[in-house]
Amino acid sequence: MIVFATSDKGGTGRSVTSCNLVYQAALRGLNVGYLDWDFGSPTAGAIFGVDSLNRGTRSGRGQHAYFLGQVLEPETVDIWAASDRNSLRHRPPGSGRMELLPGDEGQGEFRVGEGPIVQRALDILRWAQNEYDLTVVDLSAGRSYALRMALTATRPDENVGRSRWLVFHRWTMQHLTAAHGLVHGAQGLLDTGTKVGHDREDLLDRIRFVRTAIIDPNAPDLRGLRTSQLSWLSERNAELHLRARELELGARWVLGSIPVDPVFQWHEQLLTSSDLYGRETANKVTVDALHDLSLAVLDDDAWEPR
Ligand SMILES: Nc1ncnc2c1ncn2[C@@H]1O[C@H](COP(=O)(O)OP(=O)(O)OP(=O)(O)O)[C@@H](O)[C@H]1O
Ligand SMILES: [Mg+2]
Repeated sequence: MIVFATSDKGGTGRSVTSCNLVYQAALRGLNVGYLDWDFGSPTAGAIFGVDSLNRGTRSGRGQHAYFLGQVLEPETVDIWAASDRNSLRHRPPGSGRMELLPGDEGQGEFRVGEGPIVQRALDILRWAQNEYDLTVVDLSAGRSYALRMALTATRPDENVGRSRWLVFHRWTMQHLTAAHGLVHGAQGLLDTGTKVGHDREDLLDRIRFVRTAIIDPNAPDLRGLRTSQLSWLSERNAELHLRARELELGARWVLGSIPVDPVFQWHEQLLTSSDLYGRETANKVTVDALHDLSLAVLDDDAWEPR
């Protein structure tokens, strides 16, 4: 299964959530791959705790080099071996492979002729389908070149196998509007998708939203807030639920909700057992939500129209 991770805005939690999603799947024994196609800012290595890949790879064999035709076989990084975090270096028994295909440091968004690039996208997606049980492709935010390339490479007649789309957004009015626009608006997923050969209804069935950094107005850790603040929060939350339904971002279309987590607020990383049970910095509800998302993304029932 290939899962494309998209968002209209930047800073939605797309990468942090997606990296943790593949990590949770790897812990369950699945072989997972992470393709960093956020070409303008390929920083997924930092989230996996590989310091040398903080801003992409310096090997000259990253995803940029691959798409530019400079290398035939792009670099794959074994996270269990390469991570600088102790809690990742001790690969849990029974876990699957976890590999990152990083972008190249110092490169940006690129546009070269569509033909060869789409062919390379096809080749690597087919390769990933064979290598991994789950591949997440982190796409540049917005109506990017990467998004168009991914849609083109996965149109039905190309037979790259099963693919799904996650649209990440934060729980604010602006983010709801933006996420709706990315799916339903001009040059959005459905518009571009149908232009390149997708069936609109089929594509829509393979798109779900993920809400990130969600605050539960009834959570016990909000007890420090004033009553006026709590009631304001509840009102805003109700308004957001209403708006989400109007914009076709309601429960029927949501695959997961990730609570706001203190660790993520200050650091982009995988939440390991050492964060949960060692220093007790991460919240269990967050890890549970990430785990549930990693199950839901592969669970056909979770994708059934409700
Ligand atoms: N559930 C959460 N709780 C608190 N903070 C979060 C949560 N999810 C993400 N964040 C934080 O929000 C910031 C943006 O997240 P991230 O980098 O994953 O977003 P992105 O959509 O990939 O952004 P970009 O478009 O820049 O690639 C990060 O500092 C991250 O740690
Ligand atoms: Mg990102």
